Parts: sequence; structure tokens; C-alpha cells
Amino acid sequence: SHPDDFQGAPDTDYADTEKRTKAEEALQKVKQQLGKTYRPLINGEYVETANYLDSVNPSRDSELVGKVGQISVKQAEEAMNAAKTAFKSWKKTPATYRANILRKAADLMEERRNELNAWICLEVGKIIPQADGEVSEAIDFCRYYAREMERLDSGINYDIAGENNRYFYQPKGIAVVISPWNFPFAIATGMTVAALVTGNCTLLKPAATSSVIAAKIAEILVDAGIPKGVFQYVPGKGSEVGSYLVEHKDTHVIAFTGSREVGCRIYAEAAKLKPGQKHLKRVIAEMGGKNAIVVDESADLDQAVVGVVQSAFGYSGQKCSACSRVIVLSNIYDAFLERLVEATKSLNVGASDDPSVQMSSVIDATARDRILEYIEAGKQQSQLVLELPTPEGGYYIPPTIFAGVEPDHTIAQEEIFGPVLAVIKADNFDTALEIANGTDYALTGGLYSRTPSHIEQASGEFEVGNLYINRNITGAIVARQPFGGFKLSGVGSKAGGPDYLLQFLDPRVVTENI
Ligand code: SER
Repeated sequence: SHPDDFQGAPDTDYADTEKRTKAEEALQKVKQQLGKTYRPLINGEYVETANYLDSVNPSRDSELVGKVGQISVKQAEEAMNAAKTAFKSWKKTPATYRANILRKAADLMEERRNELNAWICLEVGKIIPQADGEVSEAIDFCRYYAREMERLDSGINYDIAGENNRYFYQPKGIAVVISPWNFPFAIATGMTVAALVTGNCTLLKPAATSSVIAAKIAEILVDAGIPKGVFQYVPGKGSEVGSYLVEHKDTHVIAFTGSREVGCRIYAEAAKLKPGQKHLKRVIAEMGGKNAIVVDESADLDQAVVGVVQSAFGYSGQKCSACSRVIVLSNIYDAFLERLVEATKSLNVGASDDPSVQMSSVIDATARDRILEYIEAGKQQSQLVLELPTPEGGYYIPPTIFAGVEPDHTIAQEEIFGPVLAVIKADNFDTALEIANGTDYALTGGLYSRTPSHIEQASGEFEVGNLYINRNITGAIVARQPFGGFKLSGVGSKAGGPDYLLQFLDPRVVTENI
């Protein structure tokens, strides 16, 4: 193994008054720009559409963030044709040329950081410090994938007397990126720039509730010099436009992050060969998790409580990495539960742009109603130990904790994607790990322990893509914690890691007899 020296962009230090003032000024400025109309970008032009969709602030639902033009299937076909034309020259551009566009985009994001944070805060209800983390992550994706592409581009030579062999990569063709609303800036940027830097022409179809932020990504890529047709911003209805692009014979790669239901459907659809299709599609699908943190009897309980609260309730539990089960050994169960409930009670819930708020709303009414159903299911099967008052004016679900949850209960098995935490008791450490592994998912996991043998056992046996020991389980950092899981958490290699770009490339070998 060898050390990686990649340096990520630092987050903003909001302890600094001047930085707080700048953040507040940016927020006010962005508020002056709410309600504008955003148009899809097809073949280098911002185009008119027949339909528009309203994007509202979920933490203050009277606030219209923007109106976003929704492409038709005919416009999706136009975008696909433009991508095919643009690919002829894009695939021939030097890797460093493409990498430098990403580096320029990263610099623009850094310049616009406060403004971007404000858009994220207002469009998806994410508090500013967490929005700031997302902008850092997007910057890191640009710079890391730029560097990774240059590394891959050097290829491998295997020369012997009389024969030269050259191993190198070529882009696959057209990539369709279907991005989620929960990391509307970081994940959409990461998937998109990975596809672009590897030489693929890329269509970005964002989640409806985060289409304004995706329009900002489009602005940045255009300003960074992305040629027309190479990148296109194609907001539209998933069941029409999304499906059309997934099923299209000319799509080569589909990079998706979102629900298990949609991910499994994309995987199945992509496997069907369409008339005229001359390749098999590659699907990268980052789906859900039912992530657990195990707390054993040797754990530092103060540290464990803080880590569980952050992991379970940060961004209202709407991270695929979020903790939704905490598995506690029986001899510390009561003490831990009491402290967990106390700590969670003190969370300030409210509008995402209020600097004193720690947890805001969920994304929309559909999400709220689905989460409320899970809370009802939890009440049928276990004990509700924390339910706080619900703020008004947005789609709020306050932090909710259930105790006495059994491993097979609905709320211990299904991904809720909201601020609902199931506390499960385990008699011993082996059982705790068995419970932790007893779901369909394998994304993130955590262990609080000061017992070296437990740490070693968990490292080997805890079935997750990302295991965190004695810290919170969200907030993976590019290159440091390449991110992604297995089982029904998804297919494909880790984002922000050394294998990610390979998924957008086809390797070739040229052998020359000399
Ligand atoms: N990468 C994010 C995290 O680690 C989740 O998508 O929290």
C-alpha cells in the first residue's frame, strides 16, 4: 500500500465572526433572488419548456426557491443527439484538458461558496455548516477526479524484446446521471464530473426537489469551459424523462444515487438490450442503508451519545449514511438510553437558515407522511421514548426515539430516511454484530468501544462499506473515506476512491510486434 497525499478543501470555520457575517450577507442576497426561472441546458442553449415545476423551501414552505423548466421526451432525444455529436470530439480531448475544466469548476465553487451554501440551505432545508461541508466535498470531487484521471491516463507499458504492449482507457460514451436531493450539490457534482473527466458526454437529471441547485452546477460547468453538448442539464419527470434516458439505446453508463426501489428498477431496465443497441450498459447505483451503531460496555458514553445524535439526526436523518439503529449492550442499555434521550431533547429544531437551529425539516410532504407512517408502526411494536413538538411552517418531523425495538421490527429493518432512531438491546457483543448485520443493507456502521478485540472483530465481521470506530458515521471525506456499500445498498465502487473512475471507462490493450 502507499500513502495518499490528496488535500481536501477545508470547511468554513463559523467560529470566526467575519465568516459568519459573510455567510449571513450571502443568505440575504440569495433571498433577493428567490422565485426566478431556471431553464434546461441542451446543446449549449438554455431552452424553453412546456412545463415548469416549483421548488420550495421545505423548512418554510411558503417560500418559492425557483421555477424549473421540465424537459419533454422530445427534448431528451435532442439532448441525446447533441451528446452523441459532441462525443466525437470530447473523447479525443487530452485528459489534462478535461481535468483542468474540473479544477476551474472547483475554483469557481470556492469563490461562490457562501452563495452556494445559501442555495443548498434554502432549497433542501440543510443548515449552513452542513451545506458548507457539501460544497467542500464537491470541490474535492472535482480536484480528486482530475488528479485520478491524469493518473489513469498514464496507462501501463509492458515491453519485452520484439513486442510493445500498451494498456490504456477510453471513455464509454454517454453517461446519464440521476442525482438525489439529499446531497444536491456534492453528489450531483461528483457523479457528473467523474463521467465528464473520463471523456463521456453527460446528461444530468436532478431530483425534482433540488433542481435549482443542479442549475447552479450547470452554470459553474459552463463558466469553467465545458463545451456544448458535452454536459447538459436535463431536469424532468423521472417516470418519463428519467426512464427514457435509462432505456435509451445510446446510453452507456447510468450513475444513480437514490432509493432502493428506483435503483433496482434502473438496474433491471438497463439490462434489457434495445433494438440497435451495440453494448451492455454499466449501472452505478448508490442506494440506501439501515445503518447501525454498536455501543459496548467499554465505550466512552459521552462520546457515543454525541456521535449517535449527530449520525441519527444530522440533516433530519436524510443521509444514506445516517444511523437509524443503535445496538446497545444490556449492561449499559439503561444508562445510555437516558443520556441519549436527554441529549436529543436539547436539539433546536426549526428553519434551516436560522443559525441557532441544529435540525431542520424533511424534504417534502410525501417524505413527511411516509416517516409518520413509520412512527405509527414503531408505536405498535415498541416504546416511543422521545417525541418532541412539531414546528410549523414547513415539513417538520422532530427527532424521534424508540426503545425496546426488536431486530425484526419494521423500524429496525426498513430504511425510513428521517429522524427516527431505533434503540435495540443486545445480550453480548456477538449478538450485537449479528443484529447489526441482520438487514438487507451494508452501507455504513459504527462501533463505540475501548476493547481492542471488539474493534478487531467488528473490522472483520461488521458487513458495511464504511465502518467508523469511536466517531460519527456520516460525512465521508473524498480520498480519506471513499464512500459506498454493498448488499442492497448498491452496486459499483466507492465514490471519492481510486476505483471510481474505472466504471466510466473501457480498458484496451494494443500489442505491437516490432
Ligand atoms: N457521503 C455521505 C456521507 O458520508 C452520504 O452520502 O455522509
